[in-house]
Formats: sequence, C-alpha cells, structure tokens
Amino acid sequence: MAQVIHSISELQQWSRAAHKAGKTVGLVPTMGFLHDGHLSLIDAARANGADAVVISIFVNPIQFGPNEDFAKYPRDFERDRALCEARKVDVIFAPGVEDMYPEPLTCHVYEDTISKNLCGKSRPIHFEGVTTVVSKLFNAALPDLAVFGQKDAQQAAIIRRMVRDLNFPIRIITAPIVREADGLAMSSRNKYLSEDEHRRALAISSSLFRAQKKFAAQPGIAAAKLIADIRAEITAAGGLVEYVELTDSDTMLPAVSLEPGKSFTIAVAAKFGSTRLIDNIQL
Ligand code: PAJ
Repeated sequence: MAQVIHSISELQQWSRAAHKAGKTVGLVPTMGFLHDGHLSLIDAARANGADAVVISIFVNPIQFGPNEDFAKYPRDFERDRALCEARKVDVIFAPGVEDMYPEPLTCHVYEDTISKNLCGKSRPIHFEGVTTVVSKLFNAALPDLAVFGQKDAQQAAIIRRMVRDLNFPIRIITAPIVREADGLAMSSRNKYLSEDEHRRALAISSSLFRAQKKFAAQPGIAAAKLIADIRAEITAAGGLVEYVELTDSDTMLPAVSLEPGKSFTIAVAAKFGSTRLIDNIQL
C-alpha cells in the first residue's frame, strides 16, 4: 500500500528512516492527473537505483500566471492514488497549499539565465515558481535522486542548473518523452483539446520527427531551414506558433548553428484553440 503523507515534517521523518534503513530514496515531482509519461518517471527512478519512491502531487499555485489555468487544472486524487498503487509507489506526498506556502512567503529560488528563454518569455513568473517549489519538495522528501521528464526540457535544464549552483546533494535523472500512439506528447493539458484540435496538433510531433529525419539524412542542413519547415507545418495545421528554437540539449540555451559533435534540441510551443502545447526533439 502506498502511504499518503500530507505533512512536510512527517515526510522528512519517513525519508530519514528510509535512509537509516539503507534505502536510496527517489522523488518524482508532479502536479497529478497522472498519465503514462508521469508513470514512466517512477520506473526511471527504480531503474536508476531508488529502493523507495516518493511521488509528490501538488498543483503549485505560484507557477501559474494570473491568466493561466490554475483553477481549472485537472485534478483527480483517487484516480492518481490507484495508478500509484499499481506502480508500487511507496509514498504519495500530497501537501495542502497552506502547508507549502505559509503566509507571507518571502523567500524564492530564482534561476536567472535559462529561465528567460523559450517558455520564460510568455510565462515570466513560471520558472521561479517551479524552482521554488522543487527546492521545497527536495527539502521535504530529502531524496538521493529525482526524476524529471524531457517533455519539459527547459524545466529539466533549469533544475539541473539549480542543483549544481546551489549544491543540492541530489542526482537528477531526465527521462524520455512518452507519446500517445499517434505521436502527441502526453500531457495533463491534452484533455483540453477537442478531437479536431488533437488531430491538428499532431503537426507538432510530426514536424519534429520530420526535422530529425532530415537532419539524419543531411547533417549539413541549415538550422534555419529545419526551423522554418516546422513553423510552416504547424501553421498550416492551424496552430499558433509561440516559438520554434534550436537549443543546446544540456543547457537549453539558444544555439546558432548545428556544429558537428554537439547535441541539439529543437523546442516548440504552439497553441491549438486555447490550449498551449510544448514538445521537443533531440537531433
Ligand atoms: P507535471 O506537468 O505534472 O509533470 C511532472 C513531471 O512529468 C515533469 O518532470 C514532466 O516533465 C514529466 N512529464 C510530463 N509529461 C511527460 C511525458 N509525456 N513524457 C515524459 N515525462 C513527462 O512539471 C511539472 O508537473 C511541475 O512543473 C513540477 C515539476 C511538478 C513542479 O510543480
């Protein structure tokens, strides 16, 4: 049975006891409404040596902008709990907003470079909310390792930088993107898409796969050509492109050209209807 813990101090006690018993503790931070992408992170925690896995389920108010979907973000704790049981999670950490954010909250964690690009341009407070909550989750769960999804590649890069710069003694694992059978990257927000929007949104993943194939066939191809083709394909499907950018895979900072021997990631954000989707592919 997965143990459900609501209190920060109780989770710290549980983690200290697990460490005393010689266990490696893995943390999987989520906002719930779990899908196979989230569940794959639990498996990645185990595959990377976690004997005990904590999943946190907390819809973090401070990472949503004033006009974003905090209030309507999908929530279903009982469904999440059943999925965690089936995956043999040890602890579900589900704190209340009052427990995580005593008023007034005057300390924040802020990464000032990676978080300015890509999603940071349209979501100016988002990553500060993420780094603050993830620091708090780290201090609550005291994990040896924590797993993040490549789906949110910029978020994962910011967390890697935060852990490096602030000396968190935590190994960060980045797990691959899990997709629907049709290619759409799984996301809790996919449920906002109508059937027609979902079908048209496949232009995001298909254009990224096409770019990956073009690059494999022709490594000397200009990055600008790959980017322009992705933009055109998403726009033709009726998507509103927010960005298509070539970045360094490790830092997710902008890259200018496809130099040989380096790993690049093309990151995309686009809206279909009122739903904003992100995706990326490694070249
Ligand atoms: P959430 O969107 O719930 O995602 C939780 C974790 O699942 C993140 O690391 C995300 O990258 C990963 N994930 C989501 N979809 C995925 C997919 N299709 N394949 C692989 N991994 C996927 O990201 C957050 O929550 C929050 O910002 C959080 C880190 C919990 C801080 O509040």
